[in-house]
Amino acid sequence: MMKSQFITSNVLLLILALCFSVSCRSLFSNNLDVTPGSEDFITCLRSHSNNFTSISQLIFTSANSSFLPIWQVAVNNARFNQPDTPKPSVIVTPVEESQIRTALLCTKKCGYEIRIRSGGHDFEGLSSTADVPFVMIDFTNMRSIDVDVANRSAWVQAGAALGQVYYSISQKTDTLYFPAGVCPSVGIGGYLGGGGYGNLMRKYGLGADNVVDVRFMDVNGDILDKNSMGEELFWAIRGGGASSFGIVLAWKLRLVPVPEKVTVFTVDKTLEEGLTEIFHKYQTVMPNIDRNLHIRIQMFGENVGNTTQKTIRMAFEGIYQGTIDTLIPLLEENFPELNVTREICEEVKMVQTSLLFGGFSTSTPTETLANRSAINTLNFKGKSDYIREPISIDGLKKIWEKIFENDGSDTFSCIKPHQGGMMSEFSETAILVFLNTLECFRPIFQTVDLANQPSYTQHQHNPLAQEIG
Ligand SMILES: Cc1cc2nc3c(=O)[nH]c(=O)nc-3n(C[C@H](O)[C@H](O)[C@H](O)COP(=O)(O)OP(=O)(O)OC[C@H]3O[C@@H](n4cnc5c(N)ncnc54)[C@H](O)[C@@H]3O)c2cc1C
Ligand SMILES: *[C@@H]1O[C@H](CO)[C@@H](O)[C@H](O)[C@H]1NC(C)=O
Ligand SMILES: *[C@@H]1O[C@H](CO)[C@@H](O)[C@H](O)[C@H]1NC(C)=O
Ligand SMILES: *[C@@H]1O[C@H](CO)[C@@H](O)[C@H](O)[C@H]1NC(C)=O
Ligand SMILES: *[C@@H]1O[C@H](CO)[C@@H](O)[C@H](O)[C@H]1NC(C)=O
Ligand SMILES: *[C@@H]1O[C@H](CO)[C@@H](O)[C@H](O)[C@H]1NC(C)=O
Ligand SMILES: *[C@@H]1O[C@H](CO)[C@@H](O)[C@H](O)[C@H]1NC(C)=O
Repeated sequence: MMKSQFITSNVLLLILALCFSVSCRSLFSNNLDVTPGSEDFITCLRSHSNNFTSISQLIFTSANSSFLPIWQVAVNNARFNQPDTPKPSVIVTPVEESQIRTALLCTKKCGYEIRIRSGGHDFEGLSSTADVPFVMIDFTNMRSIDVDVANRSAWVQAGAALGQVYYSISQKTDTLYFPAGVCPSVGIGGYLGGGGYGNLMRKYGLGADNVVDVRFMDVNGDILDKNSMGEELFWAIRGGGASSFGIVLAWKLRLVPVPEKVTVFTVDKTLEEGLTEIFHKYQTVMPNIDRNLHIRIQMFGENVGNTTQKTIRMAFEGIYQGTIDTLIPLLEENFPELNVTREICEEVKMVQTSLLFGGFSTSTPTETLANRSAINTLNFKGKSDYIREPISIDGLKKIWEKIFENDGSDTFSCIKPHQGGMMSEFSETAILVFLNTLECFRPIFQTVDLANQPSYTQHQHNPLAQEIG
């Protein structure tokens, strides 16, 4: 993904409320300079804030010149970044928890819905747009990270991006990490709310499996933690789409041990180079191989050289929690067809693998991971199929035909074979893993009765993890 050396550019990318007062709005809607109805909200904030000077610098309506840039900066999907895309009535960018509470209570009082945005990577724009008047709470100013090496944990505010988490950990230690996703600009808020798939999942499970505590604001503006919220809610917000239940203020992460040096490699294979058989074997090798190894695949449709003949190319992007010396015999024994040789392997620190998978070279300064403006925005929608049984050679050939039929414009698809390892060891109900691409928003802060939530499907933990970039 991104501008990675993993990917060349000219390929056809296949990877793939409650208004108590009607008067609340009508009283103040005569000022045409502001979004209709937004002034009542601001009035409410004023009367409920102990320091209105400070909060007024953090609220934006269409009357503020910075409204649009602030809204746009984190809309990841271009489909939801259009002139006619419904925008929030008010954006609030709190710097402290008490301001979130005030904004929440005024949102309810004035009859808006609420949308919460962390990294803005929601494929369906759920954090940025809605077809009802809404207030957006944008966590952009709440991204502090407190890494505790001795306790192997970190408190991370919901607005932090994954790259920032990786960078902060690497500033303190090379031998701890957080098992999360590959795209540095994804927000920890939405990522963990959707489960969280990544390069360390075969060894340590999903990101959400490694959440040990949370600071969470409920409908009344009360702040709960793991103990006070109870097991069910703690279970639901880690995978079930946290915004259906309230507002995550911060997550407490369990950091996992990693070696000082890990090994990365990339191998490209086309149909002409035996890809069909190699991918077929990949499906059976991966569930059982040493869980220190993860091999991500990306799939591209392209032409053979300058000809019109079409082919499929797959990039096998490996990351191994160990040295080249132990990786080579492991692959020679289990997967010689991949032809991973010493020359194509590189030993790097774990944080450098995040650069590599994030689309940078391993020699890029690690600060880049924490620099949002250095990270390209990708406008795409991804959707993955998670499979339990290997697809047969004939089945694969049919898939290639379908890919050849595709015009290649902006369609992504991705096969996610069974990953095994730790992913096979959780019970089906260990956490609620929801396909976060399909995460559907319901007006938040209703009483949640999980047993009667038809759109929340409980998936078996392993192959049906969730979306990956
Ligand atoms: C380029 C790209 C790469 C990706 N790579 C991966 C990957 O490697 N692994 C993986 O598992 N997924 C990946 N995803 C999917 C990604 O994890 C989800 O889209 C995730 O929901 C994005 O979180 P966000 O905070 O960036 O998005 P947002 O749009 O801010 O939020 C997503 C959802 O979470 C809610 N939410 C956000 N913050 C909070 C909060 N503080 N409290 C309550 N609810 C909140 C929002 O309301 C929204 O419903 C990728 C997506 C993209 C676009
Ligand atoms: C209110 O906030 C402003 C701006 O953040 C600050 O300068 C001021 O000192 C604060 N006033 C009080 C009483 O806290
Ligand atoms: C945006 O406009 C509103 C209404 O005019 C005002 O109260 C607020 O202070 C402005 N926000 C900023 C950041 O200047
Ligand atoms: C580490 O955790 C223990 C138990 O949770 C706690 O008593 C201790 O104060 C923590 N150490 C630090 C440095 O925070
Ligand atoms: C492909 O076509 C381009 C432009 O016609 C040409 O410059 C290039 O040499 C060709 N490459 C091969 C491998 O034939
Ligand atoms: C294996 O990879 C090496 C380079 O690392 C290459 O020279 C060789 O041709 C490859 N062998 C096969 C069978 O693909
Ligand atoms: C962040 O990245 C941008 C774009 O590459 C660059 O201009 C800026 O200097 C970087 N900021 C820091 C603090 O490195």
